[in-house]
Amino acid sequence: MKNPVMVASGTFGYGPEYADLVDLDRLGAIVVKGISPRPVTGNPPPRTVETAGGLINAIGLQNPGIEGFVRDTLPFLRRHDVPVIVNIWGRTVEEYEEVAAGFEEVEGIAGLEVNVSCPNIKEGRGLFSNDPALLRKVVSAVRAKTRRPLIVKLAPDLSRIAQFARAAEECGADAVSLINSIPAMAIDVETRRPKLGNVTGGLSGPAIKPIALKMVWEAVRAVRIPVIGIGGIACTEDALEFLLAGAQAVGVGTANFLNPVAALEIAAGIGEYLARNGMSSVRELLGGLRP
Ligand SMILES: Cc1cc2nc3c(=O)[nH]c(=O)nc-3n(C[C@H](O)[C@H](O)[C@H](O)COP(=O)(O)O)c2cc1C
Repeated sequence: MKNPVMVASGTFGYGPEYADLVDLDRLGAIVVKGISPRPVTGNPPPRTVETAGGLINAIGLQNPGIEGFVRDTLPFLRRHDVPVIVNIWGRTVEEYEEVAAGFEEVEGIAGLEVNVSCPNIKEGRGLFSNDPALLRKVVSAVRAKTRRPLIVKLAPDLSRIAQFARAAEECGADAVSLINSIPAMAIDVETRRPKLGNVTGGLSGPAIKPIALKMVWEAVRAVRIPVIGIGGIACTEDALEFLLAGAQAVGVGTANFLNPVAALEIAAGIGEYLARNGMSSVRELLGGLRP
């Protein structure tokens, strides 16, 4: 990576959507929207709603499937000089295996990020991300199918984030990224209906940053593998907070919708901060939190 700032999955399309606005080659990495084995149409609208300091989304993991992505988008991304990380998901452990295996021989992919915030339809026990045993199962299964760098994207868990991060590390993850959006909802009091077609969704944006920062700080102390900090990062200072907490890289998500060049501005801002503080590398900053 040329710099430690990547764009977070689902907030930057697959790349081409932003290409007229952003010099993609200057990003640390592009994490594309989550891909499942086959195409998915997603949830009924409305799929997003603004809230104080944030956004609630319930896209429903719409995506073109492996074949559609490899055929329609990857050739475009391959022409750019930026690491492409493919975010993957499934509804069963077998689907996670299928999508990881499906990308194994495909060129132009720097790594996989496994989104475990998905309902487990087979065993019907809620989300993969809510159950340490299921998380282990899915990470081990994906690990067995890929030699590529493997990032496990953790869901927010107020009391057990260290446990989940350790489980991912023990099952072969090369890095963990956190946090995914926080379960949330909004109601229109005039119609008395939920504001989202799916009723509930995931909260992201500045509202979640302090919560994400605390979880990242906890995860950093729980594992030896790199931690990628995500959650409400909108400016340089936000990103620096995560790096000082020990994250080795950051992901910019919801901020892309307000300011498409946010990630580039943040990368430049980190460089300026390092220079101002007499540091030559971001490594000198990592975990530099003073007591
Ligand atoms: C519209 C939208 C779509 C998202 N889609 C995905 C996805 O497909 N896979 C995933 O792992 N995370 C997805 N996320 C979560 C983000 O990557 C990120 O973890 C979360 O939004 C918190 O960061 P932020 O506050 O900077 O947006 C999505 C978020 C938003 C707002």
